[in-house]
Amino acid sequence: MTEGRSCPLAYRYSPASLCQEPAQVSADVLYVIGGLYGNPFALDEIEQMALAEERQGHRVKLVFNGDFNWFNASDSLFREINNRVLDHIVSLGNVEYELANPSPAAGCGCAYPEFVDQGVVERSNRMMERLQAVADGHPDIRKRLSLLPRYRCLMFGGLKILVLHGDPASLAGWGLAHESFAAGNGEPLAQWFRESGADVIASTHTCLPVLWSGLVDERSRVVVNNGAAGMGNLRHDPRGLITRISLSSPVAEPVAGLERRGLHVSLMPVAYALGPWLAQFDQLWPPGSPASLSYRNRITDGTSLAVDSVIFPTIS
Ligand SMILES: [Fe+2]
Repeated sequence: MTEGRSCPLAYRYSPASLCQEPAQVSADVLYVIGGLYGNPFALDEIEQMALAEERQGHRVKLVFNGDFNWFNASDSLFREINNRVLDHIVSLGNVEYELANPSPAAGCGCAYPEFVDQGVVERSNRMMERLQAVADGHPDIRKRLSLLPRYRCLMFGGLKILVLHGDPASLAGWGLAHESFAAGNGEPLAQWFRESGADVIASTHTCLPVLWSGLVDERSRVVVNNGAAGMGNLRHDPRGLITRISLSSPVAEPVAGLERRGLHVSLMPVAYALGPWLAQFDQLWPPGSPASLSYRNRITDGTSLAVDSVIFPTIS
């Protein structure tokens, strides 16, 4: 296995097994939060967004679908992030999987495809080594992470919401990445919906947002990938994104959203306190460090993705 490029076998699962036992959720709003990446200021803001909904009478459940650890490479921040997140509904990302059960030669467990630069892959592997060394000092948290499931199927608003980290074949799969939708992934997508029986699939991991809707077997289906909750996703925009799923429309302006079968699915911006986070990030990962080289520009300035490129099928 090439470090950081391939999937450990334990990441794989069968699409047909994913939604066999959906768990009923009693809430009015779900926030699906992927890729917090150890950013406590983004978590503060998400909690404030939930409070604003609760003031409107909505009961909000926070659902974390992995990679809530990444930049939090200090003992205090490692404990803080995990203690705060693990109070909620949580499933694993490859980062937590490799912290709880390091796989030989998996590196970061990211399963990066060919289009990701080798320098990024190698720096992610170094970041994982440093975070694993921090996690070694916190066996109680490693134990809690090791007990988390790899995905969740939630019954919400009468529909099956499949919450996972990568794609319906693997914890670190890239089949629901923005790049996969842009290249055309209709065939595996339809097959994944058929086999799992899901109505909505909420993913993350691949760091760029997607909102797709279409018919499979004459039923409306939705894929939503929130990109990253803890860093910028769009052009010149440092805000994180989370997925909001509800029978009611959002109380704030979404970046993108749709309504299918009575369910509102929206990508909500997370306008966290960038200055304080950058100060902490620079202490943890100074200039020249792997995280600074790979991520600092993205944290300050977002990506090159235009907001109208988030929605699929593309309207021409
Ligand atoms: Fe990931």
